[in-house]
Amino acid sequence: MDRYAVIGHPVAHSKSPLIHAAFARQTGQSLSYEAIDVAPDALEASLAALAAQGFRGLNVTLPHKVEVMRLCETVSDRARRAGAVNTLLRTDNGWSGDNTDGEGCLRDLQRLGFGLRGRRVLVLGAGGAVRGILEPLLREQPAELVVSNRSPAKPEALAEEFRAIGPIRPCTHRALKGDRFDLIVHATSAGHDGSFPRLPGQLLAAGGQCYDLSYGHAFAPFRAWAESQGAAQVSDGLGMLVEQAAASFERWRGLRPDTAPVIAQLRETA
Ligand SMILES: NC(=O)c1ccc[n+]([C@@H]2O[C@H](COP(=O)([O-])OP(=O)(O)OC[C@H]3O[C@@H](n4cnc5c(N)ncnc54)[C@H](OP(=O)(O)O)[C@@H]3O)[C@@H](O)[C@H]2O)c1
Repeated sequence: MDRYAVIGHPVAHSKSPLIHAAFARQTGQSLSYEAIDVAPDALEASLAALAAQGFRGLNVTLPHKVEVMRLCETVSDRARRAGAVNTLLRTDNGWSGDNTDGEGCLRDLQRLGFGLRGRRVLVLGAGGAVRGILEPLLREQPAELVVSNRSPAKPEALAEEFRAIGPIRPCTHRALKGDRFDLIVHATSAGHDGSFPRLPGQLLAAGGQCYDLSYGHAFAPFRAWAESQGAAQVSDGLGMLVEQAAASFERWRGLRPDTAPVIAQLRETA
């Protein structure tokens, strides 16, 4: 039986074992998938040990997503641009690193009917997750892509780094006053402590949609804000979690699982 795992610290809360077990059942693949706690100072030794034990692939979560890059034999272009790796594939030459977060986010937006092409899109936040989703969002050719953060330096740096892929207007939340957007993607971590960034009013155009990368209790503040702004549709990022896992699974097994029943199963058990 081929072995896979997610490594992180902590990792016990991870939904990845549940998701990959569902994918394996659905596609009839014979594999095992476990969660392995790897302390930051044990990353290099653990990767060597897992390779020696025959692990074929790994998902990588916090706090290892950046550090693991230097331990990869090869890193995909999209992972390099994202500045982080969330998927490792074992090859004859070593670990090959990839990042499926951006693909997962775009697929979830498409699944929900949250189109980007020709629309005015606002991304709130400028951290690691935003770095991972900017390339696929830009490739959809929105009419405008604004990245807004409470402090200006990070969006300005992202606009510069991604300039070759497409234009990004960097902004602070306060300077958004007077703008209108068709789609607002919330990607700050504020929801984890129950808060939400202070924003000017009336940012959402009539019929506008709102999407949060967070899910579970961290989704509540954005959901409340989006509903107060009259959003036509609001979604959390649970689907992104499953879609990025599906992209990893496809990388490892060459098969794309059906994500809809797995998202439904997670919602039932949440
Ligand atoms: N669904 C999925 O599969 C998935 C995948 C990845 C991430 N996520 C979620 O995406 C979110 C962002 O993750 P990340 O990795 O990008 O985190 P990160 O690198 O730590 O970045 C955090 C971002 O949030 C901003 N922020 C934090 N607290 C804030 C507050 N109180 N008010 C306003 N802005 C605040 C930070 O602004 P400053 O620069 O001003 O500090 C920064 O832009 C998290 O909720 C994470 O759980 C979901």
